[in-house]
Amino acid sequence: MKFGKIEKILKNIPHTPPEDGKILYDFIIENKCNNILELGFENGTSTCYMAAALDEIGSGKILTIDRKETIGIEPDIHALLKQTNLEKYVEPIYAHNTYIWELMKIIEEQTETRECIPIFDFCFIDGAHTWDVDGFAFFLIDKLLKPGYWVLFDDLNWKFAESHTLKNTTFVQNMPEDEKKSAQIERVFTLLVSQHPNFINHKIVNRWGWAQKKQSKFKTTEKNQTVVDLLYLKQSIIPDIFMILRKMKYKLKHVLKIFS
Ligand SMILES: C[S@@+](CC[C@H](N)C(=O)[O-])C[C@H]1O[C@@H](n2cnc3c(N)ncnc32)[C@H](O)[C@@H]1O
Repeated sequence: MKFGKIEKILKNIPHTPPEDGKILYDFIIENKCNNILELGFENGTSTCYMAAALDEIGSGKILTIDRKETIGIEPDIHALLKQTNLEKYVEPIYAHNTYIWELMKIIEEQTETRECIPIFDFCFIDGAHTWDVDGFAFFLIDKLLKPGYWVLFDDLNWKFAESHTLKNTTFVQNMPEDEKKSAQIERVFTLLVSQHPNFINHKIVNRWGWAQKKQSKFKTTEKNQTVVDLLYLKQSIIPDIFMILRKMKYKLKHVLKIFS
């Protein structure tokens, strides 16, 4: 499916905006990703952008995991997949509690004589946004991601203290100040991913963190320009301008609300 077509359907649905959808879409096509893992789908917007890329390639599968609480949200992933006719590329899994448990099951399935055989050629993490859950998810993903392929973290700058939906909940109010005010995914990326001996070519762009799993224990050459660098070089600046305008509109709306 061409990007313009999927963008038209998804542009007003949270959470992935079209400019990020385009990067996911181009990345998957250029790297011919075939077996994708996504942690956190909510409405299924990012999933559909990735599935549209698989449709363009002509094959592939996305295993995407969220909590059962997302069943029936408006629109839900099944409705979006049906509307876009991309159902055959996606397998949504509803975890009872957390994707961490589902990852254990995948590792179990992939284990042959005490070794976990990696299966995914791209992992997109956009779920809990916490040190404990996503920090651990990263170590599990290390076991499942094929050498040479990429992991991508969303929301490196996200903080509980700034979340409109969560900051006033008892759970967040009772949190220690540093935990509340820390960008926990940025901590995961800087302290775990960037320091991990299996990962190279770390790159932070806006709120996204990319890292590539090393080809093998013996090949450690870091390229000057990775596929991710080239991907960003190829992007048009028009979506960036739209993103800035959208942010200005959002801020202006809030300022006007305060003064009215
Ligand atoms: C920001 S939303 C995902 C948005 C989606 N990737 C997109 O861009 O369209 C984060 C999702 O992660 C899910 N989530 C958070 N913690 C989780 C956990 N421990 N296990 C499973 N899902 C989790 C939430 O239910 C929520 O739907």
